[in-house]
Amino acid sequence: MSDMRTEVVDATSIEEAGTQYGAKIIRDGGLVAFPTETVYGLGANGLNPEAVSSIFEAKGRPSDNPLIMHISKKSEIRQLWDSVPSVANVLMDTFWPGPLTLIYKRSRIVPNAVTAGLDTVAVRLPANVTARALIRKAGVPIAAPSANLSGKPSPTTAQHVLEDMEGRIPLIIDGGPCKYGVESTVLSLIGTPTILRPGAVTWEMLSSLIGEVRISDAVLSPLKENETAASPGMKYKHYAPDAEVVVISGSPEKAAARINELYVSAELEGKNPEIAGTKQTKHFYQGKKFVILGDREKPETLCRNLFSYLRALDQYSDLILAEGISPDQAGLAYMNRLLRSAGFHVEYV
Ligand code: TXA
Ligand code: MG
Repeated sequence: MSDMRTEVVDATSIEEAGTQYGAKIIRDGGLVAFPTETVYGLGANGLNPEAVSSIFEAKGRPSDNPLIMHISKKSEIRQLWDSVPSVANVLMDTFWPGPLTLIYKRSRIVPNAVTAGLDTVAVRLPANVTARALIRKAGVPIAAPSANLSGKPSPTTAQHVLEDMEGRIPLIIDGGPCKYGVESTVLSLIGTPTILRPGAVTWEMLSSLIGEVRISDAVLSPLKENETAASPGMKYKHYAPDAEVVVISGSPEKAAARINELYVSAELEGKNPEIAGTKQTKHFYQGKKFVILGDREKPETLCRNLFSYLRALDQYSDLILAEGISPDQAGLAYMNRLLRSAGFHVEYV
């Protein structure tokens, strides 16, 4: 498996070739990494249990963590769910194609390998045109997790995918950097609609459309011992870089002051700290090592840069001091990923 040659093909050329090559690999039971508007996915024929199993093998992913089925037309959901509740139709009409994954009762044709034996299945219709062309040409739903090795940040460029998957898969379709940079919002429609994983489709957008929407406790806090995860993905250690990450939450001024304190004492201890700051606070950090992840008032800018930053930072720092922001709008998705990368090590000032 590790001496397979991995080809990287430009999305535009594969588009010209009719996405035939990638679609053929999928139909033949192989794996293809492809761009979506959230993160890169690692796809296989979602109706072929052996092909699906090879996804888990390539990623080193625990087999009890279910996958999302990607479709190219709304109507394809009818073959994957045992029925389509009316709330799902409202959500699909508003947010599809786009970064929203919906979970409901599975139909018989969905293999256990996809759902990890659960009686529900997650489905998403991506907005990215290359992703949709690939699914359409393959002619089957594509089961796809994020295209990273298990435990690494999700890939937001083809280069990230290559770092993790070289020699493990035959093809990566390069569609450039992903628009959102964090994975889709995962919403369960079993009982009261519940956000299992926040993303670019926010709680505010969902609840203004359909009324009551819960947010799973696991979104902003660690699971307690013996607690079962509503979404199996939540129980795994995620996005944790080798460097220690500490989150400091509070007003820009207070957070920056505390970060500067921690920075100075870390240096005195012989550590190599770096600050993950924002547009609003950059002037507080002059003379220190810092990066600007985005704008606190536009949390989607922070989301877009977080994973590529987490991938890069281990090369030059052993302690990251990151600003926390309020978990509103896309800030919820940001804090969900950031707190996980910090092992929930957060200080409120
Ligand atoms: O944006 C995305 O969603 C990307 C792109 C490639 O589409 N995919 C992605 O897949 O992030 P993955 O496998 O990395 O994350 C899927 C999450 C996991 O936390 C998994 O546990 C949860 O969705 N999940 C999938 N099926 C589920 C189900 N039936 N019930 C509860 N959680 C489910
Ligand atoms: Mg993932």
